[in-house]
Amino acid sequence: MRNALLELINVEAGYGVFRVLHDVSLRVDKGEIVALVGPNGAGKTTTLKTIVGLTNLFKGEIMFEGSRINDVPTYNRIKKGLALVPEGRGIFAPLTVLENLYLGAYHEEARQKLSDSLEMVFTIFPKLKERKNQIAGTLSGGESQMLAIGRALMSRPKILLLDEPSLGLAPKIVSELFQIFKGLNEEWKVTLLLVEQHVKNSLEISHRAYVMESGKIVLEGESSALVNDERLRKAYLII
Ligand SMILES: Nc1ncnc2c1ncn2[C@@H]1O[C@H](COP(=O)(O)OP(=O)(O)OP(=O)(O)O)[C@@H](O)[C@H]1O
Ligand SMILES: [Mg+2]
Repeated sequence: MRNALLELINVEAGYGVFRVLHDVSLRVDKGEIVALVGPNGAGKTTTLKTIVGLTNLFKGEIMFEGSRINDVPTYNRIKKGLALVPEGRGIFAPLTVLENLYLGAYHEEARQKLSDSLEMVFTIFPKLKERKNQIAGTLSGGESQMLAIGRALMSRPKILLLDEPSLGLAPKIVSELFQIFKGLNEEWKVTLLLVEQHVKNSLEISHRAYVMESGKIVLEGESSALVNDERLRKAYLII
């Protein structure tokens, strides 16, 4: 049965008076991995920013756990269980790994679960445990990405919004990361909305996917079916 955790209904949003998203509707059910793919400038980042309240919303509804959150400020959306791992990661370079993780658990409820959450993050990313006292700015690209995800997990999100987590990483690390996403979803029951350029990998680990072009959803469906979609194969050279 359908169990929508997050839903965008006919959303128009952008920056200032400039509209980027046109009539965007998408849904992420509890327990799903949903991929959002599309070319550069399609509006993928804008969609994630809109979900956490960092753009101008002109029209439409954003629903989370059945409630309209259009007017809920960003920090309260985080409190409700939305977490964004932004493009470029946004970790605090001069702080240690551990300090960065603590910063992820800043709201009251997350703080109460701090030691539990830390154990969870270190189980998922043993590398971060080994390097907990290292200055974050000296981590490798893959490790920085793990830290950014780990920090988001410290807020105990109900849904994790990931913006191109594999950007700039070596192919081997990219595959590792995708396996981690699968594990996060299957073992730790984290719902994921994943924006990615690696279309094939994304379709392989996701349940459903949306394709966005010029601020519009142009294709959607079960990922297993989209892998074989002729338009998608042509556009993204999936072999
Ligand atoms: N802060 C901003 N102010 C004005 N326009 C913006 C802003 N951020 C993005 N845009 C514009 O919105 C459109 C969509 O950008 P967005 O970053 O959402 O695309 P994207 O799908 O994430 O692309 P990419 O794959 O390159 O990350 C682009 O035309 C971009 O120039
Ligand atoms: Mg982007």
